Amino acid sequence: MRTQVGIVGAGPAGLVLAHLLRREGIEAVVVESRSRRAIEATVRAGVLEQGTVDLLDELGLGARMHREGAEHHGIELRFRGRGSRLALSELTGRAIMLYAQHEVIRDLVLAWLAKGGELRFEAEAVALTGLDGPSARVRFLEGGEENELVCDYVAGCDGYHGLCRTVVPPAGRHEYLRVHPFAWFGILAEVPRLSPELIYALHDRGFALASTRSEHLQRLYLQCDPHDRVEDWSDDRIWSELHLRLSTEDGFVFRDGPIVQKDVIGMRSYVLEPMRNGRLFLAGDAAHIVPPTGAKGLNLAVADVFVLARALSERYRTGREDRLARYSETCLRRAWNAQRFSWRMTSLLHRFPEHDDFQRRLQIADLEEVARSRAAALALAENYVGLPFEDP
Ligand code: FAD
Ligand code: DHB
Repeated sequence: MRTQVGIVGAGPAGLVLAHLLRREGIEAVVVESRSRRAIEATVRAGVLEQGTVDLLDELGLGARMHREGAEHHGIELRFRGRGSRLALSELTGRAIMLYAQHEVIRDLVLAWLAKGGELRFEAEAVALTGLDGPSARVRFLEGGEENELVCDYVAGCDGYHGLCRTVVPPAGRHEYLRVHPFAWFGILAEVPRLSPELIYALHDRGFALASTRSEHLQRLYLQCDPHDRVEDWSDDRIWSELHLRLSTEDGFVFRDGPIVQKDVIGMRSYVLEPMRNGRLFLAGDAAHIVPPTGAKGLNLAVADVFVLARALSERYRTGREDRLARYSETCLRRAWNAQRFSWRMTSLLHRFPEHDDFQRRLQIADLEEVARSRAAALALAENYVGLPFEDP
């Protein structure tokens, strides 16, 4: 099998790239290790930056998102039993969209297949070769048989647990890693929306986040111990913790209800430099992971492939490789800013085991500054809604 760009992984990075390349008239084949059903059912992100929304619209992929998703113009930061609204749209002129990642995946898969795009499910890439030669080869296992995809370039969009990042040779690579001393316990609950906007809460017992999927289905998160297992958290324990952490001086109330999904989400910060090895270009979680507090991971994956598609388009149109040569540097600039912002949101809003009273008071003073100062609020808001995609 031969194509121009072999894409490993049908997550947001791989699928958005496939669509962007098609728009440029560049041929691509996607190989994905899991089944269609599995990728369309995995519950993950919910917040799309305006830039991501605009790009999906440009690609003609935004219709259901606009029908079923919800545009939000602010978020609430809640601490010491009081809420402070971060007025995203007033501050930045931009908004965010609440639309589940697996719904984005469904839309992208459907549109790709409908136009005859090649996407091999249950096809696991097991080796990449020829990355420094005249053409690259992706070897993959499909139905117990080994197949090979020969291509000009490989897009490594297979996430943190994938193959692609592991083939960057140790000599030329630098990895940055922080594993955080807490995790998130995430649930989906069939209860009415708690509040019109997302609530990010800091409480002495730890962080809590109230997000939403629809009027009747809510996505809620609680800071927990990284060693906790799903079985450690009964429904009663989850609800009582959420009620405590989201409580306010003026008696905020919300209803409990059936919990239909539970998961423990580890927190790490990771960057691999450079994001390129010869004919292989890494994008999304394959190259960098951020803690979810800033809602940046999916959006960063989309920003990477935006840059990659531009660079590949230049290469195929003109034969020039200037943009491809700058790919890693361009993406790492955004990735490191996203690391900084995600780290800031995480440290503003979580209980750190090693913090003493002094550090806790500083954390409150920091949140109070965001509540009081337009400059501090703007710095947070412009990162939360997302910086414009960079033209490499
Ligand atoms: P992935 O989504 O991980 O996709 C990689 C794909 O590659 C997978 O389908 C995998 O099966 C496949 N694969 C792996 N290995 C192979 C192989 N060898 N061969 C073939 N295929 C392979 N981000 C946001 O922007 N906003 C949010 O609100 C947000 N909230 C989050 C909440 C949670 C609880 C979590 C866990 C994450 C959140 N994120 C958020 C992060 C976001 O989900 C990820 O950053 C995003 O999925 C990255 O996309 P990706 O395409 O790079 O990788
Ligand atoms: C959601 C996830 C996040 O990481 C976040 O910061 C906000 C919302 C969500 O899943 O809805």
